[in-house]
Amino acid sequence: VHRTIDWDGEAIVAIDQTRLPAEERLLRIEDVATLAEAIRSLRIRGAPALGVAGALGIALAVRNAQREGTDLRAAADKAAAILAATRPTAVNLRWGIDQARGALDAGPDAVVNSAISLLEADVRTNRQLAERGADWLDAMRARAQHPLRILTHCNTGALACVEIGTALGIIQVAHSRGAVGEVLATETRPLLQGSRLTAWELQRLGIPFRLVGDGAAPSLIDRGRVDVVIVGADRIAANRDVANKIGTYPLALAAHAADVPFLVAAPESTFDSATPSGDDIPIEERAEAEVLSFGSARVAPEGAHALNPAFDVTPSELVTAIITEARVIERG
Ligand code: MRU
Repeated sequence: VHRTIDWDGEAIVAIDQTRLPAEERLLRIEDVATLAEAIRSLRIRGAPALGVAGALGIALAVRNAQREGTDLRAAADKAAAILAATRPTAVNLRWGIDQARGALDAGPDAVVNSAISLLEADVRTNRQLAERGADWLDAMRARAQHPLRILTHCNTGALACVEIGTALGIIQVAHSRGAVGEVLATETRPLLQGSRLTAWELQRLGIPFRLVGDGAAPSLIDRGRVDVVIVGADRIAANRDVANKIGTYPLALAAHAADVPFLVAAPESTFDSATPSGDDIPIEERAEAEVLSFGSARVAPEGAHALNPAFDVTPSELVTAIITEARVIERG
């Protein structure tokens, strides 16, 4: 099994997620413009993977400038501006870019090494996060006296990171401990990260699951068909409001109303202390065509328009706990 994103010594190698599940195709990315296109079109996606892509993108820019004999700092600055503009909501992207740029004073090798260590740290971080989250679920499973029915949204698996996921990483470890009865995965319109990517990962992991339409999830929660909801995050504001894939907020509302725990799993790098609250988080709006079509088939009549926010904000009051590699932050 190939890592979602990796460095082969000279270039970025990544799975093209737009091709899944039909085809497992690897991309070899040698320049910043190609990387920016891959991020914009969601070939590379998911907050932690975007952090790694940002850092490796700076490494790529600096290596290329070194080879061409051009100014390293100018190349890094230009790459940072291009990459940061690709997707505004996931703060990990900026974090990864800044980490690699911060090493520039120590020379080009230091930039590459810093990006590689960020890549390796992602694997360790998510392993710790997954174990911690599975411990939390163990306690819940003991109370429930049956394996848990877990609902998740979007894709938070290895495909959203390097090798092991966040929310789906927790589910994977919990499954290995016998704590998972079934996973309900939302299809996640409009781009179907749930039915294309999460289903692909769950199948390979041998974890029992069923897909549910996004609109079905709140009422399944209300009707006692879900023991716990676990999602990832793209940015957590200073007041702990959580931005995540569009459709997360209705799940949190339903979970709160039904007294079902709502867990957010994210690495510490997803916290953004510079953003005071969810109101201040920039929400990416994507192309109308994503909503007007289903896959590549146009479904809306010609002339119809669509509004397509890619993320929503869940207020911290609706979040039972945030689980990171370092701590569990329970609602105060
Ligand atoms: O638009 P995407 O597919 O990049 O959105 C991804 C999500 O919203 C994930 O839930 C989030 O990045 C957490 S990934 C561990």
